[in-house]
Amino acid sequence: MSIIFHEKSKIFHLHNDSISYIMMILENGHLGQLYCGKRIHDREDFSYLLEKAPRPMSSCVYEDDKTFSLEHIRQEMPVYGTTDYRHPAVEVLQENGSRISEFGYQEHRIFSGKPRLEGLPATYTEDDSEAETLIITLKDELTGIKVELSYTIFARGGIVAKNMCFFNEGNGSVHLTQAMSLCLDLPDYEYEWIQLSGSWARERHVKNRILTHGITAIGSMRGNSSHEQNPFIALKRPSADEQQGEVFGVSLIYSGNFLMQAEVDAHDTLRLLAGINPSGFDWKLDPGEHFQTPEAVLVYSDKGLNGMSQTFHGLYQKRLARGYWRDRERPILNNNWEATYFDFTEEKLVEIAEKAKECGVELFVLDDGWFGKRCSDHAGLGDWIANTERLPNGITGLADRIENLGMKFGLWVELEMVNKDSDLYRAHPDWILATPGRNQSHGRFQHVLDFSRKEVVDHIYEMIAKILSEAKVSYIKWDMNRSITECYSAVLPSDRQGEIFHRYILGVYDLYERLTSRFPHILFESCASGGGRFDAGMLYYAPQGWASDNSDAAERIKIQYGTSMCYPISSIGAHVSVIPNHQVFRTTPLHTRANVAYFGAFGYELNLNKLSEEEIKEVKEQVCFMKKYRKILQFGTFYRLKSPFEGNEMVWMAVSEDQKTAIVGWYRILNCVNATFTRVELQGLNPDYQYRNSQTGRFHYGDELMNLGLITSDSTAGQAEGDAVPCTDFESRIYVLEAVE
Ligand code: GLA
Repeated sequence: MSIIFHEKSKIFHLHNDSISYIMMILENGHLGQLYCGKRIHDREDFSYLLEKAPRPMSSCVYEDDKTFSLEHIRQEMPVYGTTDYRHPAVEVLQENGSRISEFGYQEHRIFSGKPRLEGLPATYTEDDSEAETLIITLKDELTGIKVELSYTIFARGGIVAKNMCFFNEGNGSVHLTQAMSLCLDLPDYEYEWIQLSGSWARERHVKNRILTHGITAIGSMRGNSSHEQNPFIALKRPSADEQQGEVFGVSLIYSGNFLMQAEVDAHDTLRLLAGINPSGFDWKLDPGEHFQTPEAVLVYSDKGLNGMSQTFHGLYQKRLARGYWRDRERPILNNNWEATYFDFTEEKLVEIAEKAKECGVELFVLDDGWFGKRCSDHAGLGDWIANTERLPNGITGLADRIENLGMKFGLWVELEMVNKDSDLYRAHPDWILATPGRNQSHGRFQHVLDFSRKEVVDHIYEMIAKILSEAKVSYIKWDMNRSITECYSAVLPSDRQGEIFHRYILGVYDLYERLTSRFPHILFESCASGGGRFDAGMLYYAPQGWASDNSDAAERIKIQYGTSMCYPISSIGAHVSVIPNHQVFRTTPLHTRANVAYFGAFGYELNLNKLSEEEIKEVKEQVCFMKKYRKILQFGTFYRLKSPFEGNEMVWMAVSEDQKTAIVGWYRILNCVNATFTRVELQGLNPDYQYRNSQTGRFHYGDELMNLGLITSDSTAGQAEGDAVPCTDFESRIYVLEAVE
């Protein structure tokens, strides 16, 4: 990997084995984008890529030149109003009301490694040899606003991480009303745009659309990254698929309001923007202050969507997630939420935990309802003190009992929220986000604490840190169950109210940082009514996230499939829950519920005491299976083979690093009669190894399995004969393929 600067042609070339990213200082000092894609040879001068032509109706920068119009030049940090009419990456509102700025090159520096981002989650290096960083400084002379554009190229994988930092070196205040983390101008728009969309209990479904002229965009204005849209998109060449072809992926390492937008102009140029949603955003920058944008990660793959996902998985697993749990197999847990909801006592919890222990489960998690007057969702949030009517021995006593069973103990919290019926609200009614004179809308009877205020975060930190330092807590599920409305802070001046959404998220990150560094052995799992904040920002603090409140196996197939586009399998919280399922009231076989949840951070979301003896036997086998293979399932190389969005069947697989073991999950929604014979071509095996198929006992070479495929036909096709077990709806199978000497 290296970053080259060609002094004469003023060209920057970032490249490694996979990617080339080429930029140029234009004659007006702006930064132009020349190429982003598969790695190409370096050369002294790529300026021929800057194509100009005199075009009627264009506005031109130079008196005597009809060809230089920013409207037709691909740029790295475009602004509006100086001949470019596309949506800009940056907008600076000045004291005189003008929004025109001109950012020209000043200097640059290139160095090994990657600096951390102040107060924000970001990818990192452990060793300076893992990446190189280029920081280019541009300045708007009139206002004195300086911006540092930071590009990091990693040694391995087609990855460029990008962020910007603004400094006010002028004498007057300005307002940043748009400050996108990434702008990528591409020379054509022959791409399919892929996004992960949904809603509560239906998160991250894969949606595709063909780009065309005009705007294609997704975003959030809810204060969280949201169930509805996820801060990730992919641009795929129409001929590319899961296994081959060119794909760009863009992920924003941010958990608040975001925007991802593609604009195709009249000349077929594609501008991609990713960053904080400019809608409602207004950051005042006084002289001497600076503003750091979140980081955006661009991945280029010429090995299809799986190639892109594997690059994201590797990066996010190893160089975004941090701490003790980063590389560790995740404990198998039993969460009591769907087992009891708010209706529990200490004895009832211990009974559930005892059965879980008998089944081999490693961690018992106490969900909502353990604190304050929390007997329903009307009260208690904000009072992080154990309810001793329910838990006479407090959290300490319960945690001790669970530990004595030989299990770890985990706890649910929702630290950003308060119910009006709570001691915290009664003491500090002005601590919620609420606009003076306006209705205070609630979500699930709760209000959002003003985490833009340090004293609020400090108070919550003290309360929860007390519990965590007194009781043996090994795991925290950090929930966030409503979106923000009437966003306004009681303490910020009127000209800074546009900062709150971002300041709020900075407060959340600050609390996460303090708790994860003070309690480094606690495993954090993020959650927001299921997967409402399942994003790369959260992964920096919490290496896993509850993917969805919907734990129906058939629904989960889609949710987990979509999630895997960007996020590592180890990060996807996935549990076996009771039937009929509590979200869709569907009944699916126990083995299918487990076969889906294996591809994630596995657990149970039910009272195992209510299962039959036969089912408990099956659960014990599931736990053994997961313990044996979880390293491969959670940290192996993951391939999507058949999409649940395209048919009745879904197939995915995970392969061990040494390629000696592969686990294939095959799933079918509805049974069909007299079905065809089916096969699926596997990926990632060693062509020369012979693998034993656990379902048939037969041996096959890797090349056989990858080229002619694994046979997945049913043994019954509508008539049960002999020993064959009849198939049902929601059928699934796990094939373990183990290489033999
Ligand atoms: C959210 C979570 C659930 C559960 C409940 C508790 O909905 O997603 O898993 O923790 O809150 O109130």
